[in-house]
This record gives sequence, structure tokens and C-alpha cells, in this order.
Amino acid sequence: MDEAHSAPKVLVTGGAGYIGSHTVLELLGAGYRVMVLDNLSNSNAESLRRVAELSGKPAPLVVGDIRDQSLVRDLLAREQIQAVLHFAGLKAVGESVEQPLSYYDNNVGGTTALLECLAEAGVRAMVFSSSATVYGDPRHVPIPVDAPIAPANPYGQTKAMIEQILADLVHSDPRWAVAILRYFNPVGAHPSGRIGEDPRGIPNNLMPYVSQVAVGRLAELAVFGGDYPTLDGTGVRDYIHVVDLARGHVAALARVLARPGAFTVNLGTGRGYSVLEITRAFEGASGRQVPYRIVGRRPGDIAQCYADASLALQLLDWQAELGLEAMCADTWRWQSDNPQGYRETS
Ligand code: NAD
Ligand code: WQD
Repeated sequence: MDEAHSAPKVLVTGGAGYIGSHTVLELLGAGYRVMVLDNLSNSNAESLRRVAELSGKPAPLVVGDIRDQSLVRDLLAREQIQAVLHFAGLKAVGESVEQPLSYYDNNVGGTTALLECLAEAGVRAMVFSSSATVYGDPRHVPIPVDAPIAPANPYGQTKAMIEQILADLVHSDPRWAVAILRYFNPVGAHPSGRIGEDPRGIPNNLMPYVSQVAVGRLAELAVFGGDYPTLDGTGVRDYIHVVDLARGHVAALARVLARPGAFTVNLGTGRGYSVLEITRAFEGASGRQVPYRIVGRRPGDIAQCYADASLALQLLDWQAELGLEAMCADTWRWQSDNPQGYRETS
């Protein structure tokens, strides 16, 4: 795509965060102009400074909340936005059980507030960040996109509710174009080591935890359960490299810009790895030991979860290309180059 002003401009909510920042970089690389709206509640503006540095193009940030309709209206009146990639939201499962209202307000209330402004402004194209968590405990693996929706926690409920709201919206006005992307387990970092996942406090997710053990920030990994009916007794997940995931958004965006209607796809690799396989692969990539101890199961966890991502290949001509080695090597480069995440430079 040409750099001229005719290049489509997209709004990326939550674009300073982990997946959003990697997607902004891919969007700029694909020739889109980008505007980010993020309240920085779980991110650092340094991510976008680095994205601009890596791409040699601007990655402008408006610091604000998707629930602030006057701010969103002003932004849409000022900027010629053609589509929205909607990442903004809260995502910690345990926290959602403790603070459900904050999750319904931010995720569901935030999305409806944003959609109202978009409808008023005539911006009717959205790529939405959903999650494999909407499937709850799946009956079969790999999980096809038409498997039953049965979220097991308030976070998952918010994703399922937003999916329904988007389906109803497209039904009410067929000019809307909506892509619902159900991510499996995003991991890894950009291969430059400049941007990556920077969780606040003790990480909830496996890969950042393992990498913080490897770098010496945490003492040992607690492996949640060694008695699942899996190859080695530990939980199996479909880990997907964040750069592959970001490219999936570029493909989905091209489709929503090209035609109205709604579609839903799984974004995963289609292959599962156990906790112990991840730990061993990370030791290989980092050359560091990752001491671990098997403890009891984490409440709400499932034995295994991996995607049937064939619809994404069919509709978007997209499939994951990066394997476990790249996921671990790129996580390690980011972690070892930035042991305190973005905090050192902010
Ligand atoms: P993240 O926390 O790094 O990014 C989310 C961003 O949204 C953050 O920068 C945060 O500051 C911002 N934000 C939150 N509430 C906001 C609001 N009300 N207004 C404006 N900005 C707000 O998380 P991530 O891992 O990059 O996830 C991005 C999206 O993908 C989320 O919607 C998440 O639910 C979804 N998702 C993530 C995963 C995962 O494992 N990381 C898996 C499936 C789906
Ligand atoms: C992976 C495996 C754990 C940490 C979560 C959300 C899901 C989605 C992705 C947003 C499991 C084990 C973990 C640790 C461990 N997010 N583990 N020790 O639970 O598959 O999915 O993130 O949509 O909604 O639920 O990912 O990385 O937390 O766990 O043994 O310290 O690692 O039991 O088997 P999960 P995870």
C-alpha cells in the first residue's frame, strides 16, 4: 500500500498493550495509518515509542478511555477513521471473579459506548479481540469455531456477551463488517527484542512467569497440576506467537474493509504443548535453568485446549508460521534485554 493520504486510517483501541502494540507495528508495515486510543491502565506509552522507532512511522497515541464518549466522538470527528481494531479491555481471569462489575463495565460497557460513537460517525468496520476462553471446558479438541459457547468466569462472559452484541448489531444493520478473532494462548515478542509482554506484578500466565524465573526475577515456577489426562500430566495449550497473531489481524482487517457481514475465526496453531514441554523449550532457548515444582491444580483450569484454525486459513488465507522455538527465543530476547519491562525507560 502507498504511503499517500489515501492509505486507510484505523483506530486501535488498547494499542499500547501487548497484542495491540505488535499489531500496530504490523499494520504500519502493511501501509496503514494508525491512531491508538488507550487509557494506559495496563500498559506503557513506551511500547508505542518503540513501535514508531522500529517502523520509522508515527504511532500516535491518544490517552483516554473507550467509555469516554465525548473524547471518542471528538476523535472520530477529527480523524478519518475507516475501521477499528478493538483490543481495549481487562483480561485477568482471577481478577474478573473478584471484581466482576469492573469487567462488565470496562469490557461490555466500554464496547457498547464505543460502538454507539462508531455508529454515529458511520464507521462500521471492527476487528474484535475475543478469546478461546468463550469455549469454557471444551468437549472435543481441536476446538472448531462452532463448538458450544460456555464461558466459566466473568472475563469469558464479557467476551461472549460482546460477541453477541456484535452479531445483533450486524443483524440490525448489514452495512457493518465485523471480524471476531478468538485467540488461543498468545506468547512471544517481536524478534527485535524491543517490544513484548510486560505484565504488572506477578504474571498470571505461564510464558511470562517462566521467562521471569529464567531471568532471575522469580525463584521457581509452580506447575498447576501434574495429574491431568495429558501426555505428562500437565495442562496442554495452543500457544501462538504474537507476531503471527498480529498478522492475523492485518488479514482480518483487509477482509472487513472489503466486505460487510460478520465472521468468527479461531487464531491458534492447532497444536498443543504441555507446561513441562514449554519449560524445557524455554531452558533450551535461554540457556538458563527454570526450576519448577508441581503443586495442586489451579481452580477453573482445564486439561487441554487447542484450536481448529482451519476457517482462518479458508477465510483469511492466514495460518500460524512461527513455532515453539521462535516463541521461546523471542520471549527470552525481550525478557533478557528488558528485565524490568518498559519501566526502566519510562
Ligand atoms: P493488554 O492488557 O496488554 O492490552 C489491553 C490494553 O487495553 C492495555 O493497553 C490497556 O491499558 C487498555 N485498556 C484497558 N481498558 C481500557 C479502556 N477502558 N479504555 C482504553 N484502553 C483500555 O492485553 P493484551 O494481552 O494485549 O490483550 C488485548 C486484547 O486481547 C484484550 O481484549 C484481551 O481480552 C484479548 N485477549 C488476550 C489474550 C491473552 O492471553 N493475552 C487472549 C485472548 C484474548
Ligand atoms: C497455561 C498453562 C496453567 C501459570 C489464560 C486465560 C485465557 C486467555 C489466555 C485471555 C495452564 C499452567 C500457568 C503458572 C502453570 N486469556 N500454568 N503455572 O489459563 O490457558 O489461559 O490466558 O483471553 O482466557 O484463561 O493460560 O498462561 O495462565 O496457563 O502451571 O504459573 O500453564 O495451569 O495449564 P490459560 P495460562
